[in-house]
Amino acid sequence: MPFNHNDHYHDLLLRELPESCRRALDVGCGTGTFARKLALRGIEVDAIDVDDHVISAAREQSAALDLPGQIRFEQADITHLTLEPDTYDYIACLASIHHVPFETVQKLRASLTANGVLVILGCYREATLRDHATSLLAIPVNAVRRASVFFREKWSEIRANQGTQPPPAPVAPPSMSLAEIRKESATYLPERRIRRLLFWRYLLVFQQRQG
Ligand SMILES: C[S@@+](CC[C@H](N)C(=O)[O-])C[C@H]1O[C@@H](n2cnc3c(N)ncnc32)[C@H](O)[C@@H]1O
Repeated sequence: MPFNHNDHYHDLLLRELPESCRRALDVGCGTGTFARKLALRGIEVDAIDVDDHVISAAREQSAALDLPGQIRFEQADITHLTLEPDTYDYIACLASIHHVPFETVQKLRASLTANGVLVILGCYREATLRDHATSLLAIPVNAVRRASVFFREKWSEIRANQGTQPPPAPVAPPSMSLAEIRKESATYLPERRIRRLLFWRYLLVFQQRQG
């Protein structure tokens, strides 16, 4: 697979798993790579995506795997879905929150258990000099990463044995700048942490307070 900016940050997101995480929700799961990493840790995962092609591919790719945690893939629109309160120990949105109104995070927050964690790997609209400078810095690093993944695969058997590629997950341009995301998230998710990442992403982490 080519160098993927979302997959690149999986380990960073997994570091935010709460200690005893039993149940997780992956919003806009695409073909399910991150959901499978959660299930590998014995977590029961609800993985939803509005696109039926990627959900079918996610089911196909997971079918033959004997993972310690179960994954329930569902074709659903997060903005219409009813989430039970106090349900998930961990909710992840990887490059998906900019596809829906940002206030959707309120619904996600309400569905967290006490001490549950919401992580957002988000995309933002470049608006400032600092945004453009980060982007300029990312371009050569990205090129090197892409080339190294390409050559590693070229010389291994992986590429030859890959067969059909899964459908690409739908993408959309982000409409909110990082400053707007900081401001709006402060209203809905007090005490969240946000930081800018190199590859056109930010990381937001929010932990539900007990009681
Ligand atoms: C850029 S892709 C990211 C996919 C995956 N999370 C990853 O890391 O590769 C964004 C995903 O969000 C999904 N999505 C968009 N709007 C959605 C909605 N309203 N409810 C659920 N999923 C949605 C898209 O179908 C797409 O698969």
